[in-house]
Amino acid sequence: MSCATPLTDSFDRRISYLRLSVTDRCDLRCAYCMPERMQFLPKSEVLTLEEIYRLALAFVARGVAKIRLTGGEPLVRRDVMDLVRALGRKLGDGLEELTLTTNGTQLAEYAQPLFDAGVRRVNVSLDTRDPDLFAQLTRRDRLAQVLEGIAAAKAAGLRVKINTVALKGLNEAEIPQLVEWSHAQGHDLTLIEVMPMGDVDGERIDHYLPLPAVRDQLEQHFALSDIGDSTGGPARYVRVAETGRRIGFISPLTNNFCATCNRVRVTATGQLYACLGGAEKVDLRAALRSDQPEAALATALDEAMRIKPERHHFAIARGAAPAQPRHMSVTGG
Ligand code: 5AD
Ligand code: SF4
Repeated sequence: MSCATPLTDSFDRRISYLRLSVTDRCDLRCAYCMPERMQFLPKSEVLTLEEIYRLALAFVARGVAKIRLTGGEPLVRRDVMDLVRALGRKLGDGLEELTLTTNGTQLAEYAQPLFDAGVRRVNVSLDTRDPDLFAQLTRRDRLAQVLEGIAAAKAAGLRVKINTVALKGLNEAEIPQLVEWSHAQGHDLTLIEVMPMGDVDGERIDHYLPLPAVRDQLEQHFALSDIGDSTGGPARYVRVAETGRRIGFISPLTNNFCATCNRVRVTATGQLYACLGGAEKVDLRAALRSDQPEAALATALDEAMRIKPERHHFAIARGAAPAQPRHMSVTGG
């Protein structure tokens, strides 16, 4: 293992967590995430799996202990399991955890191979268990596959966390039942406020639901108690007395959690974004493809630590341009 210096930004935050997007493509078209006719990147711009692997190792050498593969939908990338297996072999050798965020449509097929490669936890996005609403929200009729995928993950021994974007007038009324169901299956659930990232067909603010209001609604159904922080992550957690399990709240628009940020994100084209809500970035693909990739990567990672901003500046307003022009499916959810 290299003795290179651990990644620490200019606000003295240790960066130990990498969210790595392996593709911007997705087999769903969630209306709050992307337009119906989403323009995906030409494949030539996207890093090869081998390049992604080399990048990941460079981060591990600088003290990154946890890697989450994201997309788009990571499981739509051909041969992605080769990458998962290769990274899985680094577990216990600098890497402590390898996880995945997925929409679940293909989990029925991949759950066991993921477990066999060393993955122990997955986050699955699920905004509704109503087939019609699912088809409306994702513009695809795939709820049955997703539910099968979640069941397969559990059967394979993967711990599942359900991620639910709270949407006013859409899944709003169903949120208590989603909590009930997830907890009954043995899964924690995290609620997410819709974030202004990239253009979509409608106005996101029409469905923006502040999580403090959701919490009030949940308190009518459950006894909630705050649990002390945290994972360096953006979620605040409560325990539900009735189920014994947790609900997370990710509310970038009503809360700020940046002081303990421990992460950076890399897109499928190798752009490192220092903050989900900021434009600060460095081009790791150029570094990887340069004559002296090792030195260039080291310099690029140092630069990333120098430019990582203190906090994001998300805000949501009618008619306003998105806070960030890029979609969540580009930066990785
Ligand atoms: N705001 C909030 N969450 C989003 N996701 C995708 N786009 C957005 C957005 N604009 C969510 C997905 C998934 C996670 C990876 O990110 O629903 O749960
Ligand atoms: Fe795909 Fe996730 Fe975006 Fe939905 S939110 S379109 S599942 S990337």
